[in-house]
Amino acid sequence: MYKTPEIQKKKPKIRKALKSRFTEANLIQDIVLTQPLSVRVFHWGFALSMVIVIITGFELHKPASFLAVNFGQVFVLHIAAAFIASGLVAFRIFDALIRHDTSLIPSLKDLKMLPKLMAYYFFLRSTPPPSGKYNSGQKLIFSSWIIVFIISSVLGLASYWLGEHLIWVWRFIGGAQVIRWSKFVATIYFTCTIPVHIYLSLTEDLSKLQAMVTGYEKNSPETP
Ligand code: HEM
Repeated sequence: MYKTPEIQKKKPKIRKALKSRFTEANLIQDIVLTQPLSVRVFHWGFALSMVIVIITGFELHKPASFLAVNFGQVFVLHIAAAFIASGLVAFRIFDALIRHDTSLIPSLKDLKMLPKLMAYYFFLRSTPPPSGKYNSGQKLIFSSWIIVFIISSVLGLASYWLGEHLIWVWRFIGGAQVIRWSKFVATIYFTCTIPVHIYLSLTEDLSKLQAMVTGYEKNSPETP
């Protein structure tokens, strides 16, 4: 039967010259593929397009008086980046389904682990509680991003096609102004949580960041 490990222990493809050096140093068996290409393409594409969506979103919401930018061009950039981000989210969901990857889905156990993880982040514990590929905080943030993004995309399409399609969304939520404010609140949520994500990625374990770039990281006792 097909077993679905959270981390795929595939043999890395390494250039011959490096391979012999690694073999000499007994390193090959210590290197594991933790971030497949699909996740890396999704991650960096989603990160870039979301930064564009957020910055252009703020500009469209309330144009900054000190910026002499063309409103129409900002709008096109906003829509284009939002469509790219939507495509990438659809791709990641499809990828998770075919790889039976549940690493982004939080469980009840993750909620129970959260206070211990917070105690670690606030320097009240010396070690983080045990976790799989992502810890409980990451799972909650990542899955909330996907959900908030999907809801905002539907609201975004409803305002893009105002009065033409998705009229039920418009009626359900209570009008264009509520759609506008809901998207603004979602943008604030992303703006508050993305810096925390970047800060923790750069300060916690740099081998995780290396894996998000190369795919591979050194096998450590914490990575099951
Ligand atoms: C310079 C900026 C960023 C850096 C350095 C960074 C770094 C990382 C790293 C290292 C991980 C893996 C965490 C781990 O294995 O423990 C990760 C995962 C993730 N990041 Fe970022 N990130 C950045 C920006 C963003 C932005 C702007 C977003 C979008 C809102 C984002 C969304 C995600 C998501 C959704 C995952 C989970 C990936 C998956 O499994 O599909 N990241 N990031």
